[in-house]
Amino acid sequence: MKKTLKWAIAGLVAVVPLALSAQAANYTYVGAKKCKMCHHVEYTSWQTTTHAKATDVAKASKTRKYGPECLKCHATNHDANMPGVQCEACHGPGSAYKKFPIMKDRAKAVANGLNIPSQATCNQCHTGQGHSHKVDFKKEINNKKAIHKFKHPIK
Ligand code: HEC
Ligand code: HEC
Ligand code: HEC
Ligand code: HEC
Repeated sequence: MKKTLKWAIAGLVAVVPLALSAQAANYTYVGAKKCKMCHHVEYTSWQTTTHAKATDVAKASKTRKYGPECLKCHATNHDANMPGVQCEACHGPGSAYKKFPIMKDRAKAVANGLNIPSQATCNQCHTGQGHSHKVDFKKEINNKKAIHKFKHPIK
């Protein structure tokens, strides 16, 4: 009895992360324009941020030589075809959660890949190494010039 339980737990531990990673691999990036349709307020204000222009800024750098390694932080999904730090760099790849019936339900959206940004989200690029300085998520959340305007107050 004890032995079966142990194996059952071992099985669960092995299977759950596999299932999660297989699912995560299916999400793809759709691009900021796809979010604009329903999130006009956020989109228009995001466009004015330095995040939105981050690829151009890296390309125009006079002090550092631009190359593909810059895209890790100066683009979305390390992809030159997705210039700028777009919505999905902070909110996760949107292919599965962008549909209205899923989006309108926060729990469903999160189950389909929506990321509610946290300090860890920012730390991916604001590493504190080289020219990348650390940012304080709690402090910056009200910095609409860095993030975007909120249509709904943040919970
Ligand atoms: C078909 C319309 C639609 C599209 C397309 C869409 N959303 Fe949404 N989204 C909604 C609705 C509806 C809500 C629920 C809150 C509200 O009414 O704004 C929502 C909520 C959100 C929230 C808030 C989650 C929370 O509760 O904190 C985020 C973040 C978000 N969407 C990001 C995105 C991103 C990024 C994209 C593009 C990849 C996107 N959405 C595409 C309709 C949409
Ligand atoms: C680890 C993430 C990361 C990588 C990789 C990276 N950057 Fe940056 N970069 C940042 C962040 C974050 C900022 C915002 C400035 C800050 O943190 O003070 C920034 C700012 C800049 C700026 C504007 C401000 C300044 O310091 O001049 C330029 C230009 C720039 N980066 C160019 C580049 C180039 C070119 C590359 C590739 C050789 C690159 N970056 C690679 C994260 C990164
Ligand atoms: C995919 C990488 C990436 C992520 C994720 C990211 N940033 Fe940035 N951030 C950058 C880069 C690159 C710059 C520099 C852009 C430039 O100068 O053109 C920047 C610039 C900034 C700036 C300076 C804006 C200004 O105009 O002075 C602030 C503040 C900032 N980010 C806050 C945040 C916060 C808070 C988060 C998390 C919610 C976050 N960032 C997530 C890459 C990122
Ligand atoms: C630099 C990171 C970053 C980028 C880029 C970004 N967001 Fe956000 N977004 C945030 C943060 C942080 C919050 C507040 C999270 C919370 O609920 O605590 C937020 C909240 C939201 C919300 C819920 C609040 C509201 O406005 O109703 C929506 C919707 C949203 N973002 C959509 C978008 C869309 C669409 C884009 C692209 C046009 C985008 N975001 C780009 C960081 C980002």
